[in-house]
Amino acid sequence: MAFDERFLSELRERNDITDVISEYVVLSKRQGRIRKGLCPFHNEKTPSFAVYEDTQSFYCFGCGVGGDVIGFIRNIENLDYLDAVKKLAQRAGLKMPEDQYDNSLHNRKKRIYEINKFAAKFFYDKLLEQENKFALEYYLKRGFTPSTIKHFGLGYAPNDWTQLKQFLNEHGFRNEEIYEADLVKKSEKNSKVNFYDNFRNRMMTPIIDVRGNVVGFGGRVLDDSKPKYVNTSDTLVYKKSHEVFALNFAKNANPENLIVCEGYMDVIALHQAGFTNAVACLGTALTVEQAKLIKRYVPEVVLSYDSDEAGQKATQRAIQIFSSAGLKVRVLKLSGGKDPDEIIKKYGAERFRMILEGASNEIEYSLIGIRGKYDVSTSDGKAAFLTEASAFLATLQNPIERDTYASKLAEETGAEKSSIMSYINQNVRKNTRKRFDKKIDDERRKSLGYTDRINTETKKNLRASRAEENLLTLLLRNPDFWGKIKDSICAEDFQTTFNKRVFKSLVSKIENGSAIEVSSFGEEFSLEEAGRISLLFNRGDMVSNTEQECFDCIRVLKEEQAKQTGDVSEMNDEEFAKLFNDLFKK
Ligand code: CTP
Ligand code: MN
Repeated sequence: MAFDERFLSELRERNDITDVISEYVVLSKRQGRIRKGLCPFHNEKTPSFAVYEDTQSFYCFGCGVGGDVIGFIRNIENLDYLDAVKKLAQRAGLKMPEDQYDNSLHNRKKRIYEINKFAAKFFYDKLLEQENKFALEYYLKRGFTPSTIKHFGLGYAPNDWTQLKQFLNEHGFRNEEIYEADLVKKSEKNSKVNFYDNFRNRMMTPIIDVRGNVVGFGGRVLDDSKPKYVNTSDTLVYKKSHEVFALNFAKNANPENLIVCEGYMDVIALHQAGFTNAVACLGTALTVEQAKLIKRYVPEVVLSYDSDEAGQKATQRAIQIFSSAGLKVRVLKLSGGKDPDEIIKKYGAERFRMILEGASNEIEYSLIGIRGKYDVSTSDGKAAFLTEASAFLATLQNPIERDTYASKLAEETGAEKSSIMSYINQNVRKNTRKRFDKKIDDERRKSLGYTDRINTETKKNLRASRAEENLLTLLLRNPDFWGKIKDSICAEDFQTTFNKRVFKSLVSKIENGSAIEVSSFGEEFSLEEAGRISLLFNRGDMVSNTEQECFDCIRVLKEEQAKQTGDVSEMNDEEFAKLFNDLFKK
């Protein structure tokens, strides 16, 4: 950069460093040569930032930054040299020496921006050409809508070595300039330089910086060939380690946080699904600069990297970098798909929103889904939500899970955990009962053709024997229930002789305090009978292991007994058997 010295010294003269800095920092009265203040470039409680009027410079004893007025403006406004000079010239009412920077860095950058803009237009137009229909189809097949394609300016680089170069030449750009934009590559043959298009037969994603300039491109293959991506290398206007993809859009919604993904495709899919605060780093591992850039817009990031091993490693790294940059970090647990793009495509945007709300597994998805149906701010809505949620939790096989989520529900709604649990348990019993009925019916239906050789009376007493067996299983597995139910049942309530025998033997063992094991029945029962007891013992999945279920069984036994004595005129066992037979034949 070649400003002439006269211009620069006038610029410094007319922008006294004390005045300029005072616009940003409260400075003390002069003490000797210096005025002091709190450094704007690092956090401090006692001033170590010094401004020297005599040498028109500043220095911070705390963090070591220092320089002249131009340097101060560059740093505090985050501008490059030229823009800092411009700003100060404007402040002092000085005219910029225009002709001085025509061939300057500034101008070269300006040309690259223009070239990129033309190239983006070129790629976009190519996508819409009839002969490249397959390219447009690629995007549509991936689920991108036309308006997404337009919004992101997605395009297609044709399978050709010179089309883009020629297009840009026709618009007045020289090959060397296009080369500086990294849109063509150079080869040399017999000392003759040849330029050829860098992006060929690729789906093109323009990378746009926060000022709205197209700074580079990512080009993806349309199939599985390698390399998957060709990206713009660093140029005068693009440093991929400093840029964040889609930040230009994401920042606009004034988001509370940014969702940081691994891939362009994830970001585009997320924006399309309404998550317009998604961004990605560009084919490099996250850098400190990117973290700092993001920090300018949000206090928090939500990491949403691929669920594969590479993605998890990248997550660990990113957590460190973002945290050191002072950002709050949340990590999404993606399940059901490898990346956000896939999850949205497979399950829809709603699922991703649930993941954002903290759901990390199927159970949580379901609960959030249920909550969404009710207005939980009203007590009616809350009750309805709790009812459905508890019924859902009752379908879980694992009691620890049921308990855990009951606690969460209680916490979330302020309801008593014990009442949630008792509602869940009621449903568990109901479900178990249904499952049991179905299983046993299946079994029975199969065995109806022949007689149960161990318990020969089951056929006649289908409902009762089922309840008996159930009760036996409950007691075999939970001998401690006996104390609670013993006043409600006695051996006479049993309809089938075999089950009655087992019951008597079991109760006497419980009351004697003997061990309840299959082997303890060996003495009184034959080998085959002991086998049946073992079966009863081991079908724990048929019962819910609650005391309440014992009472349910007892109720059935009493009802059956009443039937026997003719009080209840329902279907008799023969009729039951016939019904099952009919069902089975169908
Ligand atoms: N990347 C790259 N070069 C590669 C592979 C990946 O620069 N050879 C970068 C790209 O920025 C890409 C990101 O890493 O967006 C994540 O890679 P990947 O998940 O493979 O790509 P996606 O963009 O998600 O593409 P797709 O969903 O089509 O697989
Ligand atoms: Mn991907």
